[in-house]
Amino acid sequence: MSGDAHPSYDPATGEVLCDVPVSGTDLVDEAVEASRIALKGAWASVTPAERSRMLNRVAQAIRKDAQRLATVECLDSGKPLREAVGDIETSARYFEYYAGIADKLQGDTIPLGPDFVSFTMHEPIGATAHIIPWNFPLVTTARGLAPALAAGATAVIKPAEQTPLTALMLPVYLEQAGIPAGVVNVVCGPGKMTGAPLTQHPGIAHVTFTGSVDTGKTVMMSAASHIASTTMELGGKSPVVVLADADFDAAIEGTLKAIFTNAGQVCSAGSRLVIERSVADKFLSELIKRIEQFTFGHGLDNPNIGPVVSKQQLLKIEGIVRDSVSAGAELLTGGNIKRPDKLNGWFFEPTILLAGDSSTKCVQEEIFGPVLTVQIAADFEHALELAEGTDFGLVAGIYTKDVSKALRFSRKISAGQVFINQFFAGGVETPFGGTKNSGFGREKGLEGLKAYYTVKTVTARI
Ligand code: NAI
Ligand code: MG
Repeated sequence: MSGDAHPSYDPATGEVLCDVPVSGTDLVDEAVEASRIALKGAWASVTPAERSRMLNRVAQAIRKDAQRLATVECLDSGKPLREAVGDIETSARYFEYYAGIADKLQGDTIPLGPDFVSFTMHEPIGATAHIIPWNFPLVTTARGLAPALAAGATAVIKPAEQTPLTALMLPVYLEQAGIPAGVVNVVCGPGKMTGAPLTQHPGIAHVTFTGSVDTGKTVMMSAASHIASTTMELGGKSPVVVLADADFDAAIEGTLKAIFTNAGQVCSAGSRLVIERSVADKFLSELIKRIEQFTFGHGLDNPNIGPVVSKQQLLKIEGIVRDSVSAGAELLTGGNIKRPDKLNGWFFEPTILLAGDSSTKCVQEEIFGPVLTVQIAADFEHALELAEGTDFGLVAGIYTKDVSKALRFSRKISAGQVFINQFFAGGVETPFGGTKNSGFGREKGLEGLKAYYTVKTVTARI
């Protein structure tokens, strides 16, 4: 109910950072109403060129306050400060990138012969809802909000209840940039209390959701009740394939980055290493050596591994590791909850599990923690089969010097994005989204705009 408060924690200490007021149905209704009024009113009268300038100013305002934003993101989510600094820059970059297209969204003319003139116009989709997860709070907000604004749509943002603070800072930058009141609204609270009434609201034309598969299904049903379109980014169990001919050092660095960035709480994490048998022993010993040197600590102290976001997440990670070991997976290192000096927060040791059977939980389920599952492949064809063996399909990586194998892999694998001899390069400019249980729709790049406008065709007999 509106008026209640929900705590946000510092995941490193486990202590309450602050209490955030909850928006219930009444405030959600007000937010949607404000965004609908702005859509037809103040925002509709801003020219595309001026929208572009405003988005550039949002990017500048974020950059100007980057240190403060990064500190808040670090405290609220637990992520190492250097990663939070990167997140804030990426958030600014989204606004800058989409500023460049706001005045270039133009339609086509369609040739129908001498008696007709036919053309298309792009129109903003309407008031949009953005349901944000806790792993990349400001980045995920900017990823959907910047293209929505570029296309002339308005927005209601619901940050995750674990990490609402940077979304609450955003309206100040939007105001400084001249974006009219009502164009962007932020409502806070848990999914059932705040997210549900928002996605069920008939005034919402499109829902952009990032989170778990089950909540995604619920959100799709809410959107279906009033025929809203959706973008669904539902995470993954993405493979990193390392073939015997791969550049050893590049593959080690890539594998570490793919799974231990943000303590593994990354939708596109490379959480399954699929490695060719002939190099497996050497590769695994080097990985273990490297992660046994990792430092732990508060995000502000820039450790290799920070805490995970919540006690619930910590227990989920521990549970999947335990169940996988009982089902035959072999623990190569880690596997336990960790208590670094003087910190009572939620830490988990970086962990490597050698999977037994492909049906084991650590192969099939998204863990969202610092846990790498290893599968050994006899050869390239076997690696491809193992890589493809889950219900997810978000991203996939391959390390090899053999171009034809890399391209064959790219063609065969179910994934929205394939990384060759690197992991995570690109970002703002490269389209991103899943297949299978990882969801549908594309964000980032020019593809990311398409959710936020509709095409109207006008045809005249002349
Ligand atoms: P979740 O999917 O429940 O939460 C994501 C967002 O959805 C949050 O803002 C939440 O408040 C909202 N939400 C929850 N119920 C809702 C409802 N009925 N209607 C509208 N909005 C609702 O995920 P949760 O519980 O935080 O994490 C569970 C697991 O989900 C993680 O362990 C991880 O595996 C996965 N996950 C995946 C993410 C990704 O990037 N794809 C991000 C966060 C979680
Ligand atoms: Mg928090």
